[in-house]
Amino acid sequence: MRFKKPLDLLLKEAAASGEGTLRRTLSSFNLVTMGIGAIIGAGLFSLTGLAAANNAGPAVTISFVIGAIGCAFAGLCYAEFASMIPIAGSAYTYSYATMGEFMAWIIGWDLVLEYALGAATVSISWSQYLTKFLHLYGIQIPPQLTMSPWETVTMADGSVVSGYFNLPAVFIIVCLSLLLIRGTKESAFVNNILVVLKVAVVLVFIAVGWGYINPSNHVPYIPENTGKFGEFGWSGVLRGAGVVFFAFIGFDAVSTAAQEAKDPKRGMPIGIIGSLLACTLLYVLFSHVMTGVANYKEFKDSAAPVAVAIAKTPYAWLQKAIILAILAGYTSVILVMLMGQSRIFYTMSKDGLIPSVFAKVHKKFQTPYKSNLLFAVFVSLFAAFVPVHVVGEMVSIGTLFAFVLVCVGVMVMRKSDPNTPRPFRTPWVPFVPIAGILICISMMVSLPGDTWLRLAIWMILGLVIYMVYGKKHSLIRKGQLNLPNDPPNPKYTE
Ligand code: ALA
Repeated sequence: MRFKKPLDLLLKEAAASGEGTLRRTLSSFNLVTMGIGAIIGAGLFSLTGLAAANNAGPAVTISFVIGAIGCAFAGLCYAEFASMIPIAGSAYTYSYATMGEFMAWIIGWDLVLEYALGAATVSISWSQYLTKFLHLYGIQIPPQLTMSPWETVTMADGSVVSGYFNLPAVFIIVCLSLLLIRGTKESAFVNNILVVLKVAVVLVFIAVGWGYINPSNHVPYIPENTGKFGEFGWSGVLRGAGVVFFAFIGFDAVSTAAQEAKDPKRGMPIGIIGSLLACTLLYVLFSHVMTGVANYKEFKDSAAPVAVAIAKTPYAWLQKAIILAILAGYTSVILVMLMGQSRIFYTMSKDGLIPSVFAKVHKKFQTPYKSNLLFAVFVSLFAAFVPVHVVGEMVSIGTLFAFVLVCVGVMVMRKSDPNTPRPFRTPWVPFVPIAGILICISMMVSLPGDTWLRLAIWMILGLVIYMVYGKKHSLIRKGQLNLPNDPPNPKYTE
C-alpha cells in the first residue's frame, strides 16, 4: 500500500492562516532576492577561480552556462510544483503528493544535506574570509579556533598546529538562527540589504575589471586537454560545470517559502526562474572579467580568487570593501539555507514523520523557533568539526538527488493528476524533466566515491529513523489527515 498526501488537502493546508501557521509576508521581489540570497556565495567567490585554474581555464564561463542549463531544467520542474502546491515542504511535499510517503521521507531526509549542510559549508568559508579580513587589521584569531580537528596549518615558525573547532563558523550560525526566530519579515529585510551589498560588489567588480581585461589572458579560451579527463579541453569544461554547480544551489530554497509568499502562484515561478536567470548572467560576466584580468593559472590554490584579480588593477584599496561584501553575501546564503531547513522539517513534523517539536510555532514571532534552535546546534556541529570539502560535496550530491526526484515527480503528477490547475506549466514535458534527470545524474557520477558512501550512510540512518519513528507516527497512516467533513478519499492510497 502506498500512502500519498491528498492534493486537495495540501491546497487547504496551504491556504490556512492564523495562529499556528506561518505568516504571508513575502512579495515576488522578496522571493527573487531570497533566491539570489541563497545562490550567490562561496560558489562564485571561491570556486570560480579553482574551476578556471584546474579544469576549464577562461572557458569557466561555458561551465557556468552548462551548470545553469542543468539547473534550469530542474528549476522549471520546481516552478510547476511550487506554484501548484505552494507549501513550505518543497520537494518533500511534492513527492508526498506524487510518489508516496516513502519517497517523500527519502527526499525530506536528503534535503537536510542540501540545506543544513549547505549552511555549514558556507559558514566555514565565511570563517575563512573573516579571518582574512581581521588579519588586514592586525587581528589574529588563534588558528586552532578556525579549523576542524582534521585540518592543520604550518605556522611562521615552522610548527604545525591542528584545529580544535571552527569558532567563527559556529558564531555566524547561532546569530542567524536567532534572527530567524525573531521573524521571517525581519530576516527578509536583513537579507535584502545583504543581497544588495553582494550584487553591488559583483557589479562593481565587473564594471571596474572590464577595462583591465588583457585579451591575451583569454587565449586560448579553452586550454588544451592535458591528457587526463577533466583537465582542460571540453572534458575540463564539463568537470568545471560539476564544480561550479555549487554556485547555483539555492534557487530551490525559494520554494520553501511558498507558505509565506503573498501570492505564491505568481511569486514562485518568478522567484525561482528569475533568480536563476539573474545569477547566470552575473556569473558569466564575472568569470569573464576574472579570467581576463588575471591569468587562470594564477588562481591555483587560491581560496580568494577575487583578491588575486583585484590586485591586478589600480584599485587594490577595494580589497577590504570587497571582502566585507563577500562576508555579507555568505551571510545571506546561510540565512536562507537555515530558513529553508526549518521550513522543511516544519512540514515533515506536521505530517507526523518527525517529532512535533519541529512544528512548534512561536506565539508572537510566528516562526518555528524550536526547529531553528535544534538546527542551530546540528549545523554548528558540522561547521565546527568537519572540513569544508567534505560537507561541500555532500551538499552537491544531496541537492542533485533532490533535483532528480523533483523532475521525476513532474512526470508522475502529469499522469496522476492531469487536470489539477497548474498556474505554471513546465514546458516540453517530458523532454525538460528527462534532460534534467540526465544532467543531474551525470554530475552526481562525477563526484568522488567517498561522497557516495557518505550519502549511503546518511540515507540508511534516515531509513532506520523512518522505520522506528516516522512510519508509526505518520498521520496519514493513522487516517488523521482528513479535514473535518472530508470523506476519506480512496484515490490517494493504492
Ligand atoms: N550557491 C551557494 C553558494 O555558492 C550555496 O554559496
